[in-house]
Amino acid sequence: MSILLVKDLEKSYRKGNLKIPVLRGVNLEINEGDFVSIRGSSGTGKSTLLNVLGGLDDFDSGSLVVHGKNILDYRNRGEMHYYRSTMTGFIFQHHYLMPDFTVEENVMMSLRIRGIPAKIARTQARDILEQTGILHRADHLPSQISGGESQRAAVARALAGRPALVLADEPTGNLDAENRHKFIELISDLQEKFKLTILVVTHEEELARAAGKKLFMEDGVIYDDAKA
Ligand SMILES: Nc1ncnc2c1ncn2[C@@H]1O[C@H](COP(=O)(O)OP(=O)(O)OP(=O)(O)O)[C@@H](O)[C@H]1O
Ligand SMILES: [Mg+2]
Repeated sequence: MSILLVKDLEKSYRKGNLKIPVLRGVNLEINEGDFVSIRGSSGTGKSTLLNVLGGLDDFDSGSLVVHGKNILDYRNRGEMHYYRSTMTGFIFQHHYLMPDFTVEENVMMSLRIRGIPAKIARTQARDILEQTGILHRADHLPSQISGGESQRAAVARALAGRPALVLADEPTGNLDAENRHKFIELISDLQEKFKLTILVVTHEEELARAAGKKLFMEDGVIYDDAKA
C-alpha cells in the first residue's frame, strides 16, 4: 500500500525579485513498512522536502498524496493541523522537547492533541518510553537527561500516536559516535517491530545505510543511490 506518492514536486524560495529553486521536480513513492533514506550534501533541499512532506511548508507545483489523500485537500479545508498531528511524526536534529514538561508529559502531549484521554495517553506514553529504553527517565525534565536520552524521548514522542509516516531530519546530527550507533540500532529495531514507514534525510552514511531503500538527492532532484 502506498503511503506517500510525490510527483514532480517543485518549490522555490523568493528573495526580493530573485527566485531560488530548491525542489526541482521531486518524484518519490514510499510504501507501507518501507524504511527509506535520502542522503545528500548540504543545501540540496533535504530539509525543505521533509518540511513540505510534513505539512510544515507549502510547495509551488506537483502533487503530494499521503495515505491516498491529496495534501491540498487538508489545506483547503483548513485541516493542516490535523494532518500534521495525526499523519506524520517528526524527529529533528534538535529534540525540541518542551523544557517545562517531563519526558512523559512531552510524549503524552502528542497523544492528547490527537484527542486521546489523559489516562490512556499516560499508559501509551509509558509503553512507548519503555520501547525506546528511557522509561526510567519518564519523570525527568529535558534539561536533566543526556543528548542520547533526549533523542530517544523525541523518538517516543514521534511514534506515540502511530503516525502513517515518520519523518526524520538529520536525527543523529547532534550525537556522538556511541549514541549514533545506539540510535540507528533503536530506530532499525522499532521499524522492524512495528513495521513503521520511515523517511530519513541525512549526510551520514552509517544512518543512510541502515535503510532498506537508499536514495540520493542532488540539486533538488532524487536519484537511486547507486553508490550506497
Ligand atoms: N526560508 C528560506 N528562505 C530562502 N532560502 C532558503 C530557506 N530555507 C532554505 N533555503 C535555501 O534552500 C536550499 C536548500 O535548503 P535545505 O535546508 O533544504 O537544505 P538541506 O539539504 O537540508 O541542507 P543541510 O544538509 O545543510 O541541512 C539552500 O540553498 C538554502 O539556503
Ligand atoms: Mg537540512
